[in-house]
Amino acid sequence: MVMGAAARLRLALFAAGAAAWNVCDVADHGAVGDGQTDDSRALRSALAACDEVVIPRHRSCVSGPLNLTSNQVLRVDGALLASTIPAQYPLMEPVVGYGWSRDTNCFPANSTRRGFREGARRHAPVVGAYNASNVSVVGGGVIDGRAGEPLGWWDNCTRCRGARPPDPAFPPDEAFCLAASRPKLLEFQYVTGLTVAGNAVGDPLHLKDSPFWTLTPSYSRNVRVRDLRITAPIRTPGIGNTDGVENVYVNNSDDGVCMKSGLDGFGINLAIPTEDVLVRNITCGDRRA
Ligand SMILES: *[C@@H]1O[C@H](CO)[C@@H](O)[C@H](O)[C@H]1NC(C)=O
Ligand SMILES: *[C@@H]1O[C@H](CO)[C@@H](O)[C@H](O)[C@H]1NC(C)=O
Ligand SMILES: *[C@@H]1O[C@H](CO)[C@@H](O)[C@H](O)[C@H]1NC(C)=O
Ligand SMILES: *[C@@H]1O[C@H](CO)[C@@H](O)[C@H](O)[C@H]1NC(C)=O
Ligand SMILES: *[C@@H]1O[C@H](CO)[C@@H](O)[C@H](O)[C@H]1NC(C)=O
Ligand SMILES: *[C@@H]1O[C@H](CO)[C@@H](O)[C@H](O)[C@H]1NC(C)=O
Ligand SMILES: *[C@@H]1O[C@H](CO)[C@@H](O)[C@H](O)[C@H]1NC(C)=O
Repeated sequence: MVMGAAARLRLALFAAGAAAWNVCDVADHGAVGDGQTDDSRALRSALAACDEVVIPRHRSCVSGPLNLTSNQVLRVDGALLASTIPAQYPLMEPVVGYGWSRDTNCFPANSTRRGFREGARRHAPVVGAYNASNVSVVGGGVIDGRAGEPLGWWDNCTRCRGARPPDPAFPPDEAFCLAASRPKLLEFQYVTGLTVAGNAVGDPLHLKDSPFWTLTPSYSRNVRVRDLRITAPIRTPGIGNTDGVENVYVNNSDDGVCMKSGLDGFGINLAIPTEDVLVRNITCGDRRA
């Protein structure tokens, strides 16, 4: 087995019984951070090697989706720019308790709510964590889903469904429809001990232009969400099963803070209610709360 220097160091520290907290700058794993170069490999390599992975203030890293594991911190003080290439997003099963990916806006017009889309898969989120504990996403930078670009997620969904109300000049065009739902920006499922937070009140983490729901902790415990700025001209952040949400500014066109425990029969069968939630000091900009 060939081991990198970082792995050897970790092994040495482990052998010595030292629980060193290993903080890595993504640049040390080869990230270019110029806002153009695909830094997916560098970011994944850093996440595989380090407890805390930092995108520093002056770097903008373009990346495909990332998963965090237990006892891990992703610190974004610069920018994490989501890849706009759908093929980079693996397809995964719908959220348990949801049963389907619920993205009719982007599916062909003849797809029905209870039709062939049930059970359909979805694109993995930009940042996810599954069956993990003690996971944090923090910083004073921005995680940008970049969904508003031409031929991006929103543009295609709009072309797929055509104008609403219908307009013969702008008919639905299935060439732009998706076969699986759009990615969420941040998704956590079965995570115990989750923090998503800016640096402080007044120095928030900005979650921007998510292709689909912005921040969804599902079936998770001990969740703290605070000091965020969530913006999107269209589409929705859905925040569910969240223990504490505070000092959040939301300006978008759908729900601001939304508590759920599943959808219809899927949620009833799973039977994991949302409980013990504190929501404090939320500013909802545009249309809904
Ligand atoms: C993240 O983990 C989920 C659940 O295991 C998986 O379906 C998805 O493909 C993973 N995403 C990436 C980018 O590996
Ligand atoms: C959880 O993560 C923090 C860093 O956010 C770390 O300091 C701590 O040791 C971890 N806790 C456990 C129980 O592993
Ligand atoms: C929806 O329409 C497309 C073509 O317009 C067709 O290929 C597909 O089979 C239809 N699906 C259903 C469920 O009717
Ligand atoms: C994650 O946890 C859930 C709930 O305990 C369990 O049903 C599921 O099988 C787990 N998935 C994995 C990949 O461990
Ligand atoms: C949008 O549709 C075009 C044409 O089908 C495709 O090339 C592009 O990858 C799609 N973008 C997304 C984000 O699905
Ligand atoms: C409430 O949150 C806003 C950010 O949306 C922040 O500017 C303000 O200082 C917070 N108020 C308190 C009392 O923390
Ligand atoms: C919300 O954002 C829109 C632009 O998308 C802006 O016109 C509006 O002033 C914002 N509202 C607040 C309360 O910041």
